[in-house]
Amino acid sequence: MARPTLIAPSILSSDFSRLGEEIGLIDKAGADWIHLDVMDGHFVPNLTFGPPIIKAVRGASDKYFDAHLMVTNPDALLDDYVAAGCQGITVHIEATTHLDRTLASIREKGCKAGVSLNPHTAPDQLQYVLDKLNLILVMSVNPGFGGQSFLTSQLDKIRTIKEMVGDRDIDIQVDGGVTADNAAEIIAAGANVLVAGSAVFKGGAAHYEANIKALRG
Ligand code: DX5
Ligand code: ZN
Repeated sequence: MARPTLIAPSILSSDFSRLGEEIGLIDKAGADWIHLDVMDGHFVPNLTFGPPIIKAVRGASDKYFDAHLMVTNPDALLDDYVAAGCQGITVHIEATTHLDRTLASIREKGCKAGVSLNPHTAPDQLQYVLDKLNLILVMSVNPGFGGQSFLTSQLDKIRTIKEMVGDRDIDIQVDGGVTADNAAEIIAAGANVLVAGSAVFKGGAAHYEANIKALRG
């Protein structure tokens, strides 16, 4: 059975001076998940926010808080992300040494565990951790910044992962350069969770609902 498509707006493109309010607005506009891009200025050349900010905005929405950790040594603060109210935690395969242990640890804390792959990373290394995974995130841009163009090379990877996953209960998420123009193609390749920053927040709050609808196709 086809999994329903979920839209996860990335708050990276929101107005950070009104972060809580922006989360409330995308919630009302129809967001399924709230995508939180955590950057450490080390794994990626940009810095955003961490557990204290996530905790501060947790009350703005009841939706699923989906944390995408673009950080080296993600294990160090896992407890803090859980305590801040994250329900899903995704780590980068390139930033972990003991992925099997990290995934088990996320799930032991009661969270869904995800693994993200940079555009150059092949999915074969996921083969022996599929039983510990709730989500695979295909980065369709090099992580660090919003507003980049979708790398079409990743469509093939999505198809390969879809085949690898088979009928396991694993979400396939795509992040970076997702727009209303390429969403259908990304879903057809096998993705069921679309992250979008620019495409959701463009035009301001009056457009959020239409922008989210356009991504569903
Ligand atoms: C990039 C982030 C993405 C980004 C998506 O490192 O992980 O979530 O904000 O932004 P757009 O949709 O503008 O490419
Ligand atoms: Zn992201």
